[in-house]
Formats: sequence, structure tokens, C-alpha cells
Amino acid sequence: MAAEQGKRRTVEEEFTHQAGAFARADVFRAADTLDALVERLGPQRDQTWCDVACGPGIVACALAKRVRRVVGVDCTPAMLAAAAAEAGRQGIDNAAWLAGDALNLPLSQDACDGAVSRFALHHLTDPLAAVREMARIVKPGGKLAVADQCTDDRPETADWHQRIERWRDPSHESCLTPSGILALGAAAGLERVVWDQRPLELDYEEWLTRGSGGPGRRQDIAALLASPPPGAERIFARQGDRLRLLQVIVVWRRPDPSAAQPTQPPTQPPKEERP
Ligand SMILES: C[S@@+](CC[C@H](N)C(=O)[O-])C[C@H]1O[C@@H](n2cnc3c(N)ncnc32)[C@H](O)[C@@H]1O
Repeated sequence: MAAEQGKRRTVEEEFTHQAGAFARADVFRAADTLDALVERLGPQRDQTWCDVACGPGIVACALAKRVRRVVGVDCTPAMLAAAAAEAGRQGIDNAAWLAGDALNLPLSQDACDGAVSRFALHHLTDPLAAVREMARIVKPGGKLAVADQCTDDRPETADWHQRIERWRDPSHESCLTPSGILALGAAAGLERVVWDQRPLELDYEEWLTRGSGGPGRRQDIAALLASPPPGAERIFARQGDRLRLLQVIVVWRRPDPSAAQPTQPPTQPPKEERP
């Protein structure tokens, strides 16, 4: 309990620090991180969606233009304020912003047609509990999606990666591997409908200085990135002034026991990368 409260405080402090920079960073609005995700959700005009750990509301606002209503939930008040400001700038009036925990969402069972969470799983102490919460608030037959950066299966490479991320951002918990993300859906009893993994490029300096720990650890981070372990080039690699990550997008469906036919077969991951 005390550990959970401490974790929550760390997240709030970090994302109060990051709120302005995160909202301004181009990468989070770029087509391959925003449109790629929203397209894969297949949102419908008459639907209600929840954006879990919504941050400054970038995904929620993109969805709000495609559906009837969006609810963004986040535990950091500064992020919710940024989200409300973003909605105001975009003239969006069908979004609501709620303070709450991804592990205990402030929404009732079956409240939404869909739920999505981007770049948040790696901050959570219990990502499976978060996916189960998303499944709880989504109606049977509805979709839920996670997009997040991933790490490598090799423990020494994952340790190297997580050490750098935690130096830069003390609220970083742990990146899952692509297979680890898929396993969450299986454990929560979900049907997989979309699976995609793609490189994501960021501006190195913007990434480094956005995290509260980055400037103070500049030399340590540069040194570790300069001596990458096996497999690092696929998941976390510095190339001059760019940083390349691996992003996974997965969309599941909550099974609907009353549906006569099973839903469409899942899209398969590329053969060579199939977990
Ligand atoms: C990296 S930001 C991502 C924001 C947004 N999802 C996006 O992709 O634009 C992570 C967000 O997760 C939120 N967060 C972290 N842990 C949370 C939790 N347990 N419950 C709710 N929000 C949480 C933080 O406050 C922060 O706004």
C-alpha cells in the first residue's frame, strides 16, 4: 500500500514536470504514433471510448473527432489540465477528463465501446491489472488497445534498457517485451484482432531533457547508449541526434458470449517476428 502510494507520487511529480514538454513534443502527434493507432481502433460515430492514462489528451482528442464521446482518465492533474486545454484549442466539446488510476478506473462495467492506452503500460506496477480494468469497462464485443514501447527478450539487454529509462524518468517501471504485451491479452481472456510492431524515432535531446532525471544523467546515459548489448539495435538505439525505439500496437476484442459467430480472425504478426 505504502509502495503503491510512493509510486503514485513519483508518477504525479514526473508528469507534472513533463506535462508541458510532452504536450509540445512532435513525436506524439506524428502519423506513425497517432494516426496509425487511431486507424487500427476502427472507431465508430456512435461510440464512447476511454483513453486510459490519457496524458495531455492527444489520443483522446484524435478519437473525439471520430466518435460520440471520449473520457480521458489520468492520475496527474497537470496532465488533465493540459488535456482540457488541448480539447479547447481543437474545439472539442465531446470529451470529459477524469482523475483516476489505471488500475482502478473511475468508470462502471461496460461503460464504453472501446478503451485505449498509449505509452503508459511501462509506468504501471501491474500492467495485467490495467488491461483487466480496460476489459471491465468495455462492453462485450468492444475493442481495447495498447500501444507502448517494448524491450528485448534477453535479460541483460532489457536491464541495460530499463536502467537508462529509469535514470531519465524515475517514474519508469518496466517495458514489456512484445510477447509480454501479447500475453496480457491472453491472460485477460481477450481475442487479438490487430498486432503491429514498428520502429519509432525521437529527437534524442528532446527525449533526454523531457525526463526530470535526463539532464543530470546526460553523461551516464550517453555512455551506456554508446556500448549497446546484443539486440539493442532493434529496441533502443541512438543514431546521432535520433533515438530509435520499438513500438507495439495491439488491439483486442472482449469476447461476446451472446454473439453467434466468432469475430474475424486475428491479423498475424510478420512471420519472422511472430512471438
Ligand atoms: C508517457 S505519458 C502518455 C500520455 C498519453 N497516453 C499519450 O500517449 O499521449 C504517461 C501518462 O500515464 C499517466 N499515468 C501513469 N501511471 C498512471 C496510473 N497508475 N493511473 C493513471 N494514469 C497514470 C501519467 O500521469 C502520464 O500522463
